[in-house]
Amino acid sequence: MSDKELRVSKIKDGTVIDHISGGYALDVVKILGITGREKRVMTIAINVPSKRFKAKDIVKIEGRALNSQEVNRIALVAPHATINIICDYKVVEKLEVKLPKVIEGIVRCVNPACVSNSDEPVSSKFYVKSDEPLVLKCHYCGYILEKADVLQQL
Ligand code: CTP
Ligand code: ZN
Repeated sequence: MSDKELRVSKIKDGTVIDHISGGYALDVVKILGITGREKRVMTIAINVPSKRFKAKDIVKIEGRALNSQEVNRIALVAPHATINIICDYKVVEKLEVKLPKVIEGIVRCVNPACVSNSDEPVSSKFYVKSDEPLVLKCHYCGYILEKADVLQQL
């Protein structure tokens, strides 16, 4: 895209989450737990025409790098996202998100009878059966969760 066409400006320092499937940027922001009330400058572009996908979303967070746990969370809702760390206007690091094989403590089991939903001090644990479309299997009760189940919990 030429500078003339650039939709959102480049940032000086921070993180650019690029190649989010079109329409999922707000879910990425939600899963990171960023509210906007921390007064951080953030730019969100939704359904931007893209060569790689039909449409992509972009999230730019200024003055903040993401840790590996946050990068893994993003993979739940945007398994093809690219994380770009920006320092002094330059991309100094580019990471492809990767969903771990086992997900602990982030997502709740949808089965009300699951031991992870009881009063027992058991944290949730899921095996990733597929990342696109997302399919998670509960370690305790075998219940299958799909992307919609995860999005509902955000
Ligand atoms: N970007 C930014 N501010 C900067 C540098 C880059 O907001 N100072 C953004 C770009 O707009 C782009 C992303 O970070 O959305 C990645 O930048 P770059 O690697 O330069 O772009 P591409 O080569 O198109 O990346 P890819 O190969 O991952 O598609
Ligand atoms: Zn369960």
